[in-house]
Amino acid sequence: MVLQVWMVGENGEDLENAKEFLPLSKLEEIGVLYWHLDPKKSEAEEELMKIRKDRGYSYMDLLEICPDKLENYEEKLKNFFREHMHADEEIRYCLEGGGYFDVRDKDDKWIRIWIKEGDMIILPAGIYHRFTLDGANRVKLMRLFIGEPVWTAHNRPQEDHPVRQEYVKNLTDNTGLALAAH
Ligand code: LAC
Ligand code: NI
Repeated sequence: MVLQVWMVGENGEDLENAKEFLPLSKLEEIGVLYWHLDPKKSEAEEELMKIRKDRGYSYMDLLEICPDKLENYEEKLKNFFREHMHADEEIRYCLEGGGYFDVRDKDDKWIRIWIKEGDMIILPAGIYHRFTLDGANRVKLMRLFIGEPVWTAHNRPQEDHPVRQEYVKNLTDNTGLALAAH
């Protein structure tokens, strides 16, 4: 199953014309990268190692989000769903369960990315985004990072943040963010 991506409203609600799936080029346009690995197959381990090596992701940990496995679950979920950006990429590999990453498109509308087992996404530094669980209500994510991780979320607005400015510049320059991100 290919990654399902569609537009949602400001509060994550479905829009009037129901779910119309968008082509993945919509993600490319805004610098979001995507892979699908099969965590049940041994090749996935090699593929993962290759991505980590190519992109310098030396750090790795696991984050399980579900009511009985995460301290301050309610508060954390609330923060994940508040629109924010980071000064670095947000790299997540879904090992179990699923969830929604919402990212702002070029018109500042929300695009919802439904990640499930085996999906890996990279959100570029400076992109506005948020996260919430899907109906399964639990997810196990691998988090990757270059060097010592910094998880600081900068809530919108961040128009003066140099990383945000760089992101916006790349977006409007039309130089192909996906390429720039490599
Ligand atoms: C986050 C969690 C979902 O950082 O990984 O938003
Ligand atoms: Ni984030």
